[in-house]
Amino acid sequence: MRNLTHVIALCIIYFFIFGFPDRPRAMSHIKLLNIVGARPQIIKASAISRAIRKYYPEKITEIIVHTGQHYDKEMSAVFFDELEIHKPDYNLGVGSARHGRQTSMMITGIEEVLLKEKPDCVLLYGDTNSSLAGALAASKLHFPVIHIEAGLRSFNKSMPEELNRIISDHSSTLLFAPTNAAFKNLMSEGFRPENSPPYTIDNPKIYFTGDIMYDNALFFAELAEKKKISLLKDLSVERENFVLATIHRDINTDDIVRLEAIMRTFLSLSQENSKTFVMPLHPRTTISLKNNISQLYQELLNSKLFRIIPPVSYLEMILLEKTCRMVITDSGGVQKESHFFRKPCIVLRKETEWIELVNNGTTVLVDADPERIRTEFERLLKNGSALEFPGFYGNGKTAEFILEEIMMLFEKV
Ligand code: UD1
Ligand code: UDP
Repeated sequence: MRNLTHVIALCIIYFFIFGFPDRPRAMSHIKLLNIVGARPQIIKASAISRAIRKYYPEKITEIIVHTGQHYDKEMSAVFFDELEIHKPDYNLGVGSARHGRQTSMMITGIEEVLLKEKPDCVLLYGDTNSSLAGALAASKLHFPVIHIEAGLRSFNKSMPEELNRIISDHSSTLLFAPTNAAFKNLMSEGFRPENSPPYTIDNPKIYFTGDIMYDNALFFAELAEKKKISLLKDLSVERENFVLATIHRDINTDDIVRLEAIMRTFLSLSQENSKTFVMPLHPRTTISLKNNISQLYQELLNSKLFRIIPPVSYLEMILLEKTCRMVITDSGGVQKESHFFRKPCIVLRKETEWIELVNNGTTVLVDADPERIRTEFERLLKNGSALEFPGFYGNGKTAEFILEEIMMLFEKV
């Protein structure tokens, strides 16, 4: 009996020191820290979270840090609920501020979380100030950075996102480029596809992967029809007979001459062509309209052909993209989604990072020029349905591929 007690005691001490053999905390466990902050990043993170839950629930622990860059319910919480992402483990609550102040508060907060959590790698999405802050905080502490949506360039450094992209890419160890053009941009900046492991910030690995937003569009498109179809009735719009428009870029919201030119053109196009415009407005745009051109804003609100509404949820947005006749936007994400759902798209910018869409003729760049908006609008209204929409953005399994690569490189053996 005393021998048995000894054996049990020795076993307990052994397992306490060396761990239990069949516990899920295997040697290959990875701690991945995800940084989000702005609306599209939360949507992007949902593709990665879903793939983690499906393929690596025991092998990857996902920690979500929300910088708080977007904080209104319809700019943040709605996506966590609807897309079933676990609530952020940390919310830094940074909120809105000028670029320097906002980014520096994010860096301070992220640094503290990194020192506490000591992740194996840090995942960033896209090109916002939250991405930039994550890139700087992590790379300075020597945590490997993984950049999803790497290599995109507008070649316009007056755009805040362009600096964010370049710095994020050049702070990264693994770079996942969503398009061939993005992959080539990386090569022209000196990134080499032939690099071999071990990968580091000085010897990074670049991939051409496809786009995780395409994974999301495929995954949620049917669900959007099932769950949100009543939205079309609530808005009193008919399938294929309305225009979906979004505006949020600083060049358009903060330059009142441009904003007014765009909105006035929309107003006359809607009347001349009897087309309803559905406009889920980013808070930035609503604030600028209210503060700077309140009379025009009132005209839009009073127009029978305008549906000026608060930001919608992702499922609502993709339902609108699926059922509209045409998209007009300055958003990167909305441009691509219009392609996924085979809709022509007018872009209220001089340039785009998604250049394959312009080369394909399904997206046109019009800046904020009323004449060009008008010409393209009338042309696409007539022949938009004859356009071809080739698959530029992968096979809908990009998140799966990205995680496989992360597992291979960070698995501790
Ligand atoms: C940010 C990104 C942009 C991205 C966009 C996605 C940067 C530099 N820009 O732009 O790349 O395309 O998110 O939507 O990171 N506001 C609210 N409530 C909110 C959030 C913002 O009212 O929940 C208002 C505030 O007045 C704020 C303004 O919107 O000052 C701009 O917000 P900010 O996060 O600075 O930039 P975005 O224009 O959203
Ligand atoms: N989106 C949304 N509700 C809206 C407007 C946009 O869910 O009212 C989604 C859209 O479907 C896309 C993403 O937000 O997936 C794009 O974000 P945004 O236009 O804010 O930024 P960008 O892509 O230009 O960085």
